[in-house]
Amino acid sequence: MTRSAPKTFKVKSFGCQMNVYDGARMAELLEAEGLSAVDQGEDADLVVLNTCHIREKAAEKVYSDIGRLKREDGTSPMIAVAGCVAQAEGAEIPRRAPAVDIVVGPQAYHRLPEMVKAAQTGRAIDTDMPIASKFDALPKRRRQGPTAFLTVQEGCDKFCTYCVVPYTRGAEVSRPWAAVIDEAKALVDAGAKEITLLGQNVNAWEGEDETGRRQGLDGLIRALDRLPGLSRIRYTTSHPNDMKDGLIAAHGEVEKLMPFLHLPVQAGSDRILKAMNRSHTVESYLRLIERVRASRPDIAISGDFIVGFPGETDADFEATLDIVRAVGHAQAFTFKYSPRPGTPAATMADQVAESLMDERLQRLQALINEQQHDFNRATIGRRTMVLIERDGKKPGQRIGKSPWLQSVHVETPAAIGEMIEVEIVSAGPNSVGGALAERRAA
Ligand code: 5AD
Ligand code: SF4
Repeated sequence: MTRSAPKTFKVKSFGCQMNVYDGARMAELLEAEGLSAVDQGEDADLVVLNTCHIREKAAEKVYSDIGRLKREDGTSPMIAVAGCVAQAEGAEIPRRAPAVDIVVGPQAYHRLPEMVKAAQTGRAIDTDMPIASKFDALPKRRRQGPTAFLTVQEGCDKFCTYCVVPYTRGAEVSRPWAAVIDEAKALVDAGAKEITLLGQNVNAWEGEDETGRRQGLDGLIRALDRLPGLSRIRYTTSHPNDMKDGLIAAHGEVEKLMPFLHLPVQAGSDRILKAMNRSHTVESYLRLIERVRASRPDIAISGDFIVGFPGETDADFEATLDIVRAVGHAQAFTFKYSPRPGTPAATMADQVAESLMDERLQRLQALINEQQHDFNRATIGRRTMVLIERDGKKPGQRIGKSPWLQSVHVETPAAIGEMIEVEIVSAGPNSVGGALAERRAA
């Protein structure tokens, strides 16, 4: 079958923030080729499903999404499966879902335009991890909202026993200093006020600055701090073992670096941490948090937790609740353990029953919700800057973010992208209410 060249496209991203970043880059690439973006997948000539493989549910979702793309007349748009499912399953995808035209992995998507051409007469599959970086082949960053993601590091060498990321995203690679600084400048020129530096182990970033000096993530953050027009810097996601002294110090010294740290600990029992191959202990994690707090006392700590890892007993799970209380997480993501093909944990003994995982997930989530509410309450009375990101539901209301990544609802004529001073006056479980600081002072 031959198809005509697609004129319109839709990119749908699932999973982590790096997929959001990759999705934006793929959209820019397709636009540079003359295609135009449409809102609804059904109307598009080309649909890119940018997939996540981290848990079984996320990975299986792609197949129902493909089914849903079938039109009433029996035809489908050109379908590209990108992201981590593409990397992990490759040619298996079109075998299971023949409607798929293109399979492209996370390190090969700069080749998407030529694959779209090839897919007009056949099927195109590319899950290479080429040495030459895809970043060099991507067009310059375009118009941005006030917040932007910037991938600085990719891949993982840690091999936690539950995780597919080392297989889907490959080994740890840091983008060069100059490439990151250039992209940050382009983002700021395009309207970004806040940049979140991304990496699967972003705090493992290393490189050489323009004078040839070795630098870590803290050096990069300090360089970005000097970028005029940029107001805020964040980074995610980090591994405890890569949390070096310089980065901890930067939290106390760099004004644009926001007081928020996503530092997953995953579980609160040393036995489980060992089985997970996390190579840190509960005690070393708690000491680390103490040092971070000594540098930046108001920092909000966030994390990821897995319940029901193979062999997790009631006592192990109680220890997870204990560490959440001890750290006082301001927010966290919680997941039920999902066995992933090819990972060591998938074949471990004592897999935990689904019903028990459900129960544990609920209890952990309830505790985290409570703590998040407490954290929000504790910020009442603070005067702080808010970066306005979007309109609220009520007329005249806008929603922005506080330095601690809380959503702040505030009535203001301020435009999206403006930084305004607000006093936090109320707190809900998921957001806080702010009042314009000048108005209250008047
Ligand atoms: N099952 C459940 N959760 C997982 N995560 C990673 N792999 C798995 C898995 N097999 C979680 C971890 C990680 C987050 C991105 O996803 O908590 O930090
Ligand atoms: Fe999902 Fe991990 Fe891939 Fe992100 S890197 S899309 S979280 S599997």
